[in-house]
Amino acid sequence: MSNQILVTGGTGFIGSHTVVELQNSGYDVVIVDNLSNSKIEVLDQIEEITGIKPKFEQFDLTDKNKLAGFFEKYSNLDAIIHFAASKAVGESVEKPLMYYHNNLNSLMNIMQCMNDFDVNNLVFSSSCTVYGQPEKLPVTEQTPRKEAESPYGNTKSICEDIIRDTVYANSKLKGIALRYFNPIGAHETAKIGELPLGIPNNLIPFLTQTVAGIREELSVFGDDYNTPDGSAIRDYIHVVDLAKAHVVAIERLLENKNQKAYEYFNVGTGNGVSVLEIIESFERATREKVPYKIVDRRAGDIEKIYADTSLANDELGWEAKSTLDETLHSAWKWQKHIMA
Ligand code: WQD
Repeated sequence: MSNQILVTGGTGFIGSHTVVELQNSGYDVVIVDNLSNSKIEVLDQIEEITGIKPKFEQFDLTDKNKLAGFFEKYSNLDAIIHFAASKAVGESVEKPLMYYHNNLNSLMNIMQCMNDFDVNNLVFSSSCTVYGQPEKLPVTEQTPRKEAESPYGNTKSICEDIIRDTVYANSKLKGIALRYFNPIGAHETAKIGELPLGIPNNLIPFLTQTVAGIREELSVFGDDYNTPDGSAIRDYIHVVDLAKAHVVAIERLLENKNQKAYEYFNVGTGNGVSVLEIIESFERATREKVPYKIVDRRAGDIEKIYADTSLANDELGWEAKSTLDETLHSAWKWQKHIMA
């Protein structure tokens, strides 16, 4: 009997790629999603990749009665991976209460049900945004968290504290937070990928839509940063490498290999790459031209951040494997697929 894993937000970008890797590793997956930022067709696309259509329930995790009913129905859950959250940085500045309501209540309802229904293992989708602009690079897990740059980032930081405190109050619970850097790219089959609704906030979908002719020109937000080419630096990680880190984290918990009841890990490549280097890499990998212009910095952006991944490498036995060119090529293949 294979372990049953609840994946909240499992029809989303990172969630769907993680469901594929869980199924490839023999786990039985059930998805809960409210479809506010994803499409139900993703279930069919996952099935096309793995041959297994995940079980699916549609409701909002802020509805604690619906969630309790779900836990009654699925009474043999072994672990939970919690992705479901609102995640647009800019939107969170305009609608902070919506972000605090959704992201905090969803997590608190999940943890209440973990207590009530004896489900003891949680992997949480956190973010490097909890570090703000670090003084020292690369960022390790000992780098102090900073005042978040946005309500979105603050919800991630608060959620980490909620998990830590709840886990320490119930000796049966174990939790791992994975602090993502910048997830990009798509599954090699191009059957699943990033599906931003409306005008993309993030660099890669805007870039691929520009090359595809959907957007006029890519704006590079600033070339006056204190970096080698003046554009801002991030740690871009292939979404499939990120998905695999979740499987490893689940295994760590199910096999009781965790050192502490609550742990957190940086999940990045360890390489800092600038926006202009992304453009160069994309053009090299795809032989396509990226029309762009340099504009002013975007408010709230930090200058540079990239991960020290040695803890995840050593403790989880995980590392990102994809090259930047391969990752950007997968993003372009996905863009062409969704336009076909
Ligand atoms: C990357 C770089 C921009 C768009 C945010 C969240 C993080 C996670 C990922 C949710 C920056 C530059 C961007 C554009 C540009 N969110 N850029 N032109 O801001 O690093 O991270 O998204 O999970 O938690 O903080 O990602 O892709 O928006 O920006 O020049 O049209 O690309 O200035 O330097 P970011 P991003």
